[in-house]
Amino acid sequence: MKEINIGLLGCGTVGTGVAKILIENRDLIRSRVGANLNLRRVADIDLKSDRGIRFDDGVFIADAHKVVDDPGIDIIIEMIGGEGVAKDFILRAIDNNKQVVTANKALLANHGNSIFKAAAEKGVDLAFEASVGGCMPIIKSLRESLVGNHVKSMTGILNGTCNYILSRSTDDGSSFEDVLAEAQEKGFAEADTTLDVEGIDTAHKLAILTSLAYGMEINFKDIYIEGISNITPMDIVFAGQFGYRIKLLAISKDTGNAVDARVHPTMIPFDNLLSSVNGVLNAITISGDAVGDVMLYGHGAGMMPTASAVVSDTVDIARNLLSGTSGRVPLLSYQMENIRKIPIIPVDEIFTHYYFRFSAVDRPGVLSKISGILGDLGISIKSVHQKGRKTKGPVPIVMLTHLAKEADVQKALTKITTLDVVKDRPVLIRIEDEDEQD
Ligand code: HSE
Repeated sequence: MKEINIGLLGCGTVGTGVAKILIENRDLIRSRVGANLNLRRVADIDLKSDRGIRFDDGVFIADAHKVVDDPGIDIIIEMIGGEGVAKDFILRAIDNNKQVVTANKALLANHGNSIFKAAAEKGVDLAFEASVGGCMPIIKSLRESLVGNHVKSMTGILNGTCNYILSRSTDDGSSFEDVLAEAQEKGFAEADTTLDVEGIDTAHKLAILTSLAYGMEINFKDIYIEGISNITPMDIVFAGQFGYRIKLLAISKDTGNAVDARVHPTMIPFDNLLSSVNGVLNAITISGDAVGDVMLYGHGAGMMPTASAVVSDTVDIARNLLSGTSGRVPLLSYQMENIRKIPIIPVDEIFTHYYFRFSAVDRPGVLSKISGILGDLGISIKSVHQKGRKTKGPVPIVMLTHLAKEADVQKALTKITTLDVVKDRPVLIRIEDEDEQD
């Protein structure tokens, strides 16, 4: 029987899941691959925690250098996370001609261009299915299944923690803080939860996907990012009254010679399938010129679903090793020489529909002052809703717009904020919806 030896760096939540699958499903994997996938070394600085796995003597060690430098190891699985030592170990593994599997979206979003270049120069495979969407095979879909398509757009829910928070707030009015604490306990959230809540984790994933879809260098820094921390229960309720749910979306659109790529809370109509994706589940709709719309759906976080994607990558690479190939599928979907710098459109230049909520005093002429400013900037109002006054003080006025340009919207909101009848900065939530009037 042929043997493929694996070294695992990091045995936290997902690393433990990977070890469990490789050990407990060893016979199943052998029957599918035609070789033994041996978990030869596992490195983690925490030697004490009980992970519920019995490793053979000498497998579990503290020093990751001994894993990446072990000449008997074929595949390194990096599950350390973060941008520090994980990068050093991956580069060292590549330098040692080892194949690499990682789930490290932050690292790939920020340093992926140089890491993939190093891997391509060495001719080793570097697989990263679990970096986006947990168990959903989105990387494989873009690199392989949809290879004959121009990808026109992708719209996804890519952060389980945010989706869990928004779903619970929508369904039972749970408080943001309580639900975030639950997500941490369940192991969905990042160690630094601002990465989830502020939309950064979603943008890391979108940076990776846009590179694969459009043949562009990974460009995280130009993606517009807005998280969910300013979403209030009141806006969730208003959204529902207009037939929308609020989701943190990763949106990308091919506009010809540029890409529209952004992450922000978005209102989507109830009949958009993404609006029914709840809890920790992730989903993405990819629109291709040949295929039309394709949707993937599954657990975007958590020990075993994420580990499933890591093992899938490991098996792909093992199969390549067994057939004496590597680099059969280009790392970033396009041949390296065809990957270009494609600009991302600044958010000021996008056109979309908007929801505004103003907090204004309830007296004659207020609505006309607000709508006057919007009209002067060419922003057309689609509907208006004002809640009756129950107590003294400002009341919420909610407006939905037809297509408008972000720069005009921001100018209008700045002007409206200066009106003495308007209290607080208005709330703005972008809407993704078809509109026959536009
Ligand atoms: N913190 C991430 C999430 C983990 O909640 O989706 C998976 O990338």
